Amino acid sequence: MVSPSGPFQLPCGYFLHIFDVLESTMDEAYKLAKAGAPAGTIVLAQRQTKGRGRLGRPWVSLMGNLFISLIFRPTCPLSRVSELGFLLAHSVGLALSACTSSSLEVHYKWPNDILVRNRKIAGLLLEAELSADMLASSSPQWLVVGLGLNLKSAPEDVGYPVTSLQAEGFSVSPSRFLSFLCLEIDHLLTQWGDQGFSPIREAWLSKAWGIGREMTLLRGKEKITGFFETIAPDGSIILKNEEGARYQMATGEILLGLQQNSN
Ligand code: BTN
Repeated sequence: MVSPSGPFQLPCGYFLHIFDVLESTMDEAYKLAKAGAPAGTIVLAQRQTKGRGRLGRPWVSLMGNLFISLIFRPTCPLSRVSELGFLLAHSVGLALSACTSSSLEVHYKWPNDILVRNRKIAGLLLEAELSADMLASSSPQWLVVGLGLNLKSAPEDVGYPVTSLQAEGFSVSPSRFLSFLCLEIDHLLTQWGDQGFSPIREAWLSKAWGIGREMTLLRGKEKITGFFETIAPDGSIILKNEEGARYQMATGEILLGLQQNSN
């Protein structure tokens, strides 16, 4: 582990563990969470050898980009934990604008992607271990949220449009971005605690990618096509087909770009 001193200046309540290289920051964060690490613990690796994305996909983890996993200890019911994904996506969007002092064209793609100029720049991964204890207490003891952000470069040949902050004309270090991100997370967690999910849902929707657009959703092996109407108060996506029938899905993924030829 590298010393956590140096350029990282995070608000109080965050505890940073920095590594040169890890297989995945998710696994290290799991270990720490199981050993009782507090909420606000962040694991950062400069490089990952087995970075993972959603739906079991690999996450190409090139040096210079940001790879972190954050530990949360939410007290909300399990059914509300997915709200944190929207909160984090919005925090990333706000931090991108703040650290570049610019009005980047940021959009959020359901459920947990961040796009700049319709290209994926970051993705979030929410994982928790559902033990019997956790189910009995109905709220997770801990939750690990992984963030991969293309600061310096975007991977090639991933099958959908991608970009990096560098390619958008901004040179931002992981430490600088992380300081902005922690401030935005703090602010939105307070808002979430005081006012619930509604304002975060509204903010997310105001930057939602593809509202009104016809799209195909993948849930397991099932593909559903319809027009993206909105997200429900619990964050599920609502699609409406040409006959007016609505489909509401809590999990799944919108196919993007080459997977669907939609861009
Ligand atoms: C996705 O869009 O599929 C989610 C990508 C999440 C990648 C991050 S990088 C840091 C953390 N460690 C991992 O192995 N994955 C997440």
